[in-house]
Amino acid sequence: MKTKNETNTLEIKNLHVEIEEKEILSGIDITIRTNEIHALMGPNGAGKSTLAYVIAGHPKYKITKGDILLNGESIIDLEPDERARKGIFLSFQYPLEIQGITMLNFLRTAYSRTVLNKDNELEDVEKFSKYLNKKIKLLGFSDEFINRYLNVGFSGGEKKRSEIFQMLVLKPKIAILDETDSGLDIDALKLVAKAVNSEKANLGILIITHYNRILEHIKPTHVHILVNGKIAKSGSHELVHQLEAKGYKALLENST
Ligand SMILES: Nc1ncnc2c1ncn2[C@@H]1O[C@H](COP(=O)(O)OP(=O)(O)OP(=O)(O)O)[C@@H](O)[C@H]1O
Ligand SMILES: [Mg+2]
Repeated sequence: MKTKNETNTLEIKNLHVEIEEKEILSGIDITIRTNEIHALMGPNGAGKSTLAYVIAGHPKYKITKGDILLNGESIIDLEPDERARKGIFLSFQYPLEIQGITMLNFLRTAYSRTVLNKDNELEDVEKFSKYLNKKIKLLGFSDEFINRYLNVGFSGGEKKRSEIFQMLVLKPKIAILDETDSGLDIDALKLVAKAVNSEKANLGILIITHYNRILEHIKPTHVHILVNGKIAKSGSHELVHQLEAKGYKALLENST
């Protein structure tokens, strides 16, 4: 069992990543600790989702240099499910629809494997359903959502809320949220921000976003701007305000 307020650290060290022999990430250094919120911003195609996928262990990317360490141990040779067991959670930019698997069954298996670290499924479905019902309300869903197939037919915003619901249930150590704010209406954005904030003392977060809107609710402790596979600038929340006022080009031109 996890103790409350333990400190976990994810270190991304001089990370170089290729896809189909094309370098997408060219030396990324970011360290994320429990109770820190790192916002990752940058133009389309900069490599933000690539970084998210590489941390989660997507097999299509090749790490050519550098390392990713969780609490001092390299995770780059681990399979995605092993990384999830160690407490890494990825909320996808484009969540997948999975026919035939209900949210309840998916989360039963995932909870058992990650939180309880067991190979078999949870036995006490009724107790687990109650646990889910408590969490699902926080995201504004009604109880029957847990009996629907995972993301199938969900609206864009519902998919994003469903990802955060999964995060609340699975209690990861490090969460990577890839454009979780896109497609959320104003009320849903506030629900998501509230849910993320409620977990933040036990969680290190990397949130990828294009806009300051969600960051007004989830105050970032660090901000990084990724351009062409490199961190062009890091700073505090103030950097986002400068970015929104000036745009990438002017901000980065004045920064050297
Ligand atoms: N399978 C692939 N083959 C070739 N290039 C790829 C492949 N997958 C990703 N890329 C390229 O990698 C680059 C980085 O993509 P990525 O999805 O990480 O960008 P992003 O910063 O998340 O952008 P956005 O803000 O639009 O989500 C892009 O130029 C993309 O075209
Ligand atoms: Mg992306």
